[in-house]
Amino acid sequence: MTVLGIETSCDECAAAVVEDGKTILSNVVATQIPFHKEFSGVVPEIASRKHTEWIYGVVEEALLKAGKTPRNIDGVAATAHPGLVGSLLVGLTFAKAFAWATRVPFLACDHMLAHLYAARLCENNPEYPYIGLLVSGGHTIICRVDNFDTVEVLGTTIDDAVGEAFDKVAKHYGLGYPGGVYIDEAARKGDAGVFEFPMPNLHKGEHRCDVSYSGLKTAVVNQLEQFRKKGQAGSLNLCDLAASFQKTAVEILIRALLRACRDTGINTVVSGGGVAANSYLRSRLAQYETLNCVFPPLELCGDNGAMVAGLAYQYFARGGSSSFSETASARVKEFKRRYP
Ligand code: KG4
Ligand code: ZN
Repeated sequence: MTVLGIETSCDECAAAVVEDGKTILSNVVATQIPFHKEFSGVVPEIASRKHTEWIYGVVEEALLKAGKTPRNIDGVAATAHPGLVGSLLVGLTFAKAFAWATRVPFLACDHMLAHLYAARLCENNPEYPYIGLLVSGGHTIICRVDNFDTVEVLGTTIDDAVGEAFDKVAKHYGLGYPGGVYIDEAARKGDAGVFEFPMPNLHKGEHRCDVSYSGLKTAVVNQLEQFRKKGQAGSLNLCDLAASFQKTAVEILIRALLRACRDTGINTVVSGGGVAANSYLRSRLAQYETLNCVFPPLELCGDNGAMVAGLAYQYFARGGSSSFSETASARVKEFKRRYP
């Protein structure tokens, strides 16, 4: 079964053609980063306008690269939630129109389940159950995964998402956008032992494996003020700062993750989302010999259409599809045993 997957939840306009939920025939990602860079963050109005301008060309290129025409597509899917509603609507409406015109089934996908599916587009399919580590710009979710659509949340952030903390720290210190990429790069040249940032003390979390990032973000941002007060702002080494921040951010994740593994007795961990590209997170997790950690290839960590097409195939394969009345929503639908 050949599925076209479309992803427009944020600032990547993406489409891909995937065979049987496994073989990527094409994966086109048109990034809007240059248009949002000067604002150090995604401007929703610019994002939706660019998606509107680009979506036709991006889908056309995905079909062309896959050597397919619309008539060869057996099912079409798009991200419906969570994300920027104006952006989601572009991909979702395009997918519905495509499905209607070609008379194939349509599926409205969840973005976080798609990120979780990305690792299954590689050679080795990890066996269920496993612990999911979903780390993106908008979400931080640690969950037990029993199937592609059967997910139980064990922990989430009580404030900022981990990617958001990377982005906000990078913005404050003018390191570049998107922040995670630049912090990862700067940290490689820095000493992670120079600054000691506090680990959060979580009392009010709903889940045992919750995390928190606003305290760390504030502590890192305040360093500049402290150096300024001493008249030493110029001597603040940003590479050391980036390395120390990144180390603490990753340790927060690992502490919650290890707890999830201990509680469930599961030691396979599958990661997904933009922050899963982080080199320190990858190398740090590799140190745990008792854990089997699976990461998607770097090009499938960030937003892409292949993960949407792959996930959708699984629904189609068991006869599922969505109605055209499914619409976009900004928030993650509540994860439950059977989802969505
Ligand atoms: O999954 P994604 O592309 O979009 C969302 O669904 O949010 O994730 C984007 C996030 C941004 O916060 C970005 O700074 C972060 O992923 N990111 C990274 C790295 N590459 C991207 N964070 C840490 N290290 C990286 N190498
Ligand atoms: Zn994403």
